[in-house]
Amino acid sequence: MTRKELLYEGKAKRVYGTDDPTRCIIEFKDDATAFNGVKKGTIADKGVMNNEMSSYLFAMLAAAGVANHFIQRLSDREMLVRRVHIIPLEVIVRNIVAGSMSKRLGIAEGARLATPVIELSYKNDELGDPLVNEDHIRALGAATDAEVADLRRLALEVNALLKERFAAAGITLVDFKLEFGRADGAILLADEISPDTCRFWDSATGKKLDKDRFRRDLGGVEEGYHEVLRRLLAGRTQ
Ligand code: TMP
Repeated sequence: MTRKELLYEGKAKRVYGTDDPTRCIIEFKDDATAFNGVKKGTIADKGVMNNEMSSYLFAMLAAAGVANHFIQRLSDREMLVRRVHIIPLEVIVRNIVAGSMSKRLGIAEGARLATPVIELSYKNDELGDPLVNEDHIRALGAATDAEVADLRRLALEVNALLKERFAAAGITLVDFKLEFGRADGAILLADEISPDTCRFWDSATGKKLDKDRFRRDLGGVEEGYHEVLRRLLAGRTQ
């Protein structure tokens, strides 16, 4: 598969075309941003770690029946995926209160939620990815009601699978963000699943092992990412 033109460059990834119009190559960068790009930095080898973790998790989810864009990890930083049209929504799933939900609703970080909370935000950097509800989504033409129902169902399915897998590695899945795409009339899970897009807390100590170490200047950022990857791959069954 030959890498062709750059199709899109985001804050953490580049997406390239290939000689097959139904395939793309994603390249994971070490660049890190927070607060909608206001804070900038790099995390050494983040691209390599996020590619490895995302590849492993997408393969695991596919084996469990969650259709996704992943085809193959091509190199340290490159992943071959099916080309999709990204639905401009971020689907956030929360098991424990943290981050913006804690701030917005005045609930202490760490409070357990009786059932998962799903939030939808509109993918638009200029607007700061605002939270939206189903009526907004319809008004924006971002997705149909049936698609939103599918996204919610898929997000809960992914949550159940990831929660269990991370628990087995001694890691609490606090919350995470998913993105989905359309391809040939189907909805595929896309983007990445990594410490950039999830909150992971050590189950025994509560230590943060994700991008919050960068966002909040906690130090030990690389070590956190590496620890999550090490534990996941140590317990690899496939
Ligand atoms: P939040 O508490 O800042 O809203 O974040 C919720 C989850 O979504 C958390 O796991 C981090 C992830 N996330 C992203 O992947 N991209 C983003 O741009 C933001 C703001 C959060």
